[in-house]
Amino acid sequence: MATKWGICSAGKISNDFVVALQTLPAQDHQAVAVAARYLSRAKEFAKSHNIPKAYGTYEELAEDPDIDIVYVGAIHPAHRDLVLLFFNHGKNVLCEKPMAMNLTEVKELTSAARKHNVFFMEAFWSRFFPVYEEIRSLLDQKVLGEVKVVRAEFGANLVGVPRAVEKELGGGALLDIGCYGIQFASMAFNGENPESVTANGFLHDTGVDETVTIILQYPGKCQAIITSTIVTELPNQAVISGTQGMIQIPSYMWSPTSLIVNGKETKYTLPTTTKHLHFKNSTGLSYEAEHVRQCLLKGLKESPIMSLAESELLASIMEEVYIQLGIYKNKE
Ligand SMILES: NC(=O)c1ccc[n+]([C@@H]2O[C@H](COP(=O)([O-])OP(=O)(O)OC[C@H]3O[C@@H](n4cnc5c(N)ncnc54)[C@H](OP(=O)(O)O)[C@@H]3O)[C@@H](O)[C@H]2O)c1
Repeated sequence: MATKWGICSAGKISNDFVVALQTLPAQDHQAVAVAARYLSRAKEFAKSHNIPKAYGTYEELAEDPDIDIVYVGAIHPAHRDLVLLFFNHGKNVLCEKPMAMNLTEVKELTSAARKHNVFFMEAFWSRFFPVYEEIRSLLDQKVLGEVKVVRAEFGANLVGVPRAVEKELGGGALLDIGCYGIQFASMAFNGENPESVTANGFLHDTGVDETVTIILQYPGKCQAIITSTIVTELPNQAVISGTQGMIQIPSYMWSPTSLIVNGKETKYTLPTTTKHLHFKNSTGLSYEAEHVRQCLLKGLKESPIMSLAESELLASIMEEVYIQLGIYKNKE
């Protein structure tokens, strides 16, 4: 039976997610309903993606009994309330990254998911790309020996994107794109807690973080260096260096199609589409959707690859970075 997806928000990433879903077999995945703040937007979205039901409120989507899982593609300040709305109606949820605005909210959501006994995952789609699967397999086999240094960067000129620069829309380099580097380091160090978090950076004139570099130190003299910026392009690569070898991910480290292991490159092909996409390599969202389907079929309440505990860890690292940058003080 197909996994029936409800789509919450008719914005850019929701468009790409539905396009990616439709690259998968229709007997496995169906977008059955979409909700937006305005019915006209929902209807337009439904029409362009052949989705049977369109709602003008998120509540109607929450009340729809014929949905297996809701994909939350709204801007991040809206995540907390929306996810709780769906949990309160017993819905499973895949929520776009970052899961929420701060550690307090993230913990509230993870404990609500456990309380309601629903499936919940932060949509770090990168984790499910074949390149990331291969990296985890190489790390498991200790092909690099002991991992010592990890580098990751995500920089793009997003100064014209309201979501990236405006405080009330959840703007800032870290929440929008820097989180990809943190999740990468966390995967490379097997979800371990860093011993220390050190951050330095600059604020944009809107008050959000503009450019940030973070050093995470892990036990055993291991380090991750993560840079993100919303004012300029970076090479957008990542590297994992171990005592016996090195893995490089050429651009884009968050949605990669190429992997270089000790100098030898392997290329990967993504699903194709003729439909419009807003973001690079977005058909790769299909890997995440299929992973979620497999979790639901197994009756899992969280993903073994992107667990709730790891979402809490990532949020705790970001919280510390904000405190050090002096722009965030809401620590528990
Ligand atoms: N995985 C990825 O590759 C990826 C890429 C980009 C973004 N993202 C994440 O996806 C989320 C949405 O990003 P996006 O680029 O799709 O954003 P967007 O198109 O600017 O907005 C997404 C939706 O947010 C909803 N929203 C709720 N309150 C809003 C408000 N006060 N002002 C404006 N919109 C509001 C709107 O829903 P309605 O349609 O209901 O009005 C809008 O369509 C973010 O959390 C972002 O970090 C992920």
